[in-house]
Amino acid sequence: MKLAETGEALREILKGAPRPCVLVPTMGAFHAGHVSLMERAREMAGPHGSVVVSIFVNPIQFDRAADLDAYPRPLTRDLATCRAAGVDVVFAPDAASMYFPDRSVTVTETMLSRGLCGATRPGHFDGVCTVVLKLFLLSGCDAAVFGEKDFQQLAVIRRMVRDLDVPVEIMAAPTVREADGLAMSSRNTRLTPEQRADAPRIRQALSAAAELKNPAEALAFARRAIEASPLARIDYLTLVDAVTLQPISEILRPAILATAVFYGDVRLIDHAAVTP
Ligand code: PAJ
Repeated sequence: MKLAETGEALREILKGAPRPCVLVPTMGAFHAGHVSLMERAREMAGPHGSVVVSIFVNPIQFDRAADLDAYPRPLTRDLATCRAAGVDVVFAPDAASMYFPDRSVTVTETMLSRGLCGATRPGHFDGVCTVVLKLFLLSGCDAAVFGEKDFQQLAVIRRMVRDLDVPVEIMAAPTVREADGLAMSSRNTRLTPEQRADAPRIRQALSAAAELKNPAEALAFARRAIEASPLARIDYLTLVDAVTLQPISEILRPAILATAVFYGDVRLIDHAAVTP
């Protein structure tokens, strides 16, 4: 496994690397969800293709300095995880090598990124689009894998790739969960034992609510079930169209019941599909 710490080094390593080249963009602090993306990338690349994992805690997508500072960065363990998963190249740059101090170009998606996480995390998806496009350009990969857990991120990236003719195939991988249903997240390790024990209620609330076909009832049920905990504070809870991500009040097409919940200062997201 090769390690590149600058964009130049990555380009050099990947020059003439076996194709297809499949990228897995991450911010590290790996759990089984990330490993499932690496496995998906290997399936896609085949035994002779190249699997590239980027590990970069992207400062420009964090709206809260405390969240950026607290974000875990276990690089040695992450590199071992990549090696065990058969990754060919890891790209782990520092912020100074990714961004000029006077950088002035940003990629902005203006429809799908406005609601949900975009509404409560201003600038977040600009930061995601900008770094993901840079990672695509630096790696020159043919395809990239993203998790359905961050379904809004996946939708925004697909839109960026469509609208800017980015020659990268986007693949989605299903959400990996803990045994008790909590969606795996690098932020789960920052929960106290009490918060961790309480957090599976998010998934339970969404799954049960998604069975109720009346949107108002589903939203009210999920809200009650989450707010029944004194530890949980809802950031948003919304029912949106699965394609436009616009809020809906009638379920005529596939929809998504989505939430972000704070436990202390740790923000967790999850969603459930609602079918008409
Ligand atoms: P990060 O949160 O590290 O996630 C990296 C990838 O892992 C994303 O595609 C995310 O959807 C996926 N992922 C996270 N938890 C998952 C789970 N439980 N099951 C399946 N996949 C999961 O998302 C980012 O980093 C950043 O925004 C990034 C795209 C790297 C841009 O900086």
